[in-house]
Amino acid sequence: AWGAVGCQPNADPENGSVFGSDAKSPKMFAVPLPIPPVLKPSRSDGSTDYYDIVQKVAKAEILPGLATTVWAYNGIFPGPTIDSRSGRRIVVRHRNELPVPTTTHLHGGHTPSDSDGYPLDLVTPVGGGQNGTSHGTHRGMTPVRVSDGAKDYTYPQDQRAATLWYHDHRMDFTGPSVYRGLAGFHILRDDEEDSLPLPKGEYEVPLMIADRSFSENGEFLYPAADPTGAKPGLKEGYDVGVLGDVILVNGAPWPILEVAAVRYRFRLLNASNARRYRLTFDQKGAIPFVQIGSDGGLLKAPLRRTSVTVAPAERYDVVVDFSKYRPGTEITMLNGLGDDSTAQVMKFRVTRKATDDSTIPARLSQYETLDPGKAVKTRDFAFERGDEHSWTINGETYEPGKNFATPRIGDVEIWNLDIDGANHPVHLHLDQFQVLGDDERKADAGLKDTVGLTAGQKTRIIVKFTGYEGRYMLHCHNLEHEDMGMMADYEVSS
Ligand code: C2O
Ligand code: CU
Repeated sequence: AWGAVGCQPNADPENGSVFGSDAKSPKMFAVPLPIPPVLKPSRSDGSTDYYDIVQKVAKAEILPGLATTVWAYNGIFPGPTIDSRSGRRIVVRHRNELPVPTTTHLHGGHTPSDSDGYPLDLVTPVGGGQNGTSHGTHRGMTPVRVSDGAKDYTYPQDQRAATLWYHDHRMDFTGPSVYRGLAGFHILRDDEEDSLPLPKGEYEVPLMIADRSFSENGEFLYPAADPTGAKPGLKEGYDVGVLGDVILVNGAPWPILEVAAVRYRFRLLNASNARRYRLTFDQKGAIPFVQIGSDGGLLKAPLRRTSVTVAPAERYDVVVDFSKYRPGTEITMLNGLGDDSTAQVMKFRVTRKATDDSTIPARLSQYETLDPGKAVKTRDFAFERGDEHSWTINGETYEPGKNFATPRIGDVEIWNLDIDGANHPVHLHLDQFQVLGDDERKADAGLKDTVGLTAGQKTRIIVKFTGYEGRYMLHCHNLEHEDMGMMADYEVSS
């Protein structure tokens, strides 16, 4: 039923899991990089800023000269950026003018359970929508809550500065909903970060990377669900998830950004449904850059790198120094895991000199490194293929309300993650974790909410449950795996 608006089934699913566009590919590095607008609060009082977002169907010119139907926050893809202060409470009212129910998750947010965007905590369309509320009971599942037309999501923001993002999280339909455009940045700032001499203002740029494919007339292509509706999920042959052949950055195909010859801070987010990227900045050979932050905010100390591998939902905060390049120099962001069209992401063209008073301090931030000796519990989670329609955690497809863990507030736990023959970006709601790793994963510094694990990998994460009480989730952030059951609930109590 969700195929009725916007996405059209591809006529030819033969070419593996990569969805080839039928539309003529746009010229690379021709469209200027758009920057999503920052949303202003509708009102504020002593304690809270109030924001309003309308989720609606709109048209966007993504491929030059063609109109793409998007489902989007305030009608734009990416959605507007919420740029706010750590410790400052905000309330975001999401009004649903889409034809289907939605639920909105603040990814990386330290959020009370009833605002966390649980898959069955549904906001039904204003006025019933095209498909009415029939979507409220997926496979006979009862919603935990139904909000009629709109919901106020409350975020205390009691967490450090970080690059967060918000996206749809509806039961069984997160993949198609996000693919259609329901994703936006949510940036949290704090005094500690502000006091650092990092690149700021126009030299701080969020980059949302996402792949898509397009029909001849410019509509997004997404494979149809099982037409019988008996089971959610995709047709067979999409085991690795939905991959597109056009790379979008901030909603534009292979864009170009004109830069000054100074340091830039790029907040990289992989908002793709399933694609992983190994990103390099290239000017006839990878040029080094500096990682300063991760999913959960700044690292303790900067890390010099020549590439970062970014799985779906992960964020990497990096500083690239263009100061040694003369005006006219072009630097390409490449994807070492791509092929043909997906091996290139975007381009930077140095166009002017400017004075640069930014530096990267040797000490960036502080947070508690969790001691494995303090863990009160170790749990095991196996991520595996189920039948042809499913992916499982510990042998089971998602069953809402069934708790796979019941930590208490204040507990430190170690979770062993054991990965089958596919790639799974594993995401935990509520609290940021640290990766204890095998050796390879130790390269992944900082506080994380998503860890991009690859076939056959085992790793350990350590997490302190700081509250709130209530129901949260652990799941694969390959959105097709997620929609095919690779999720589990856990419940925090005091
Ligand atoms: Cu970004 Cu539970 O998801
Ligand atoms: Cu997965």
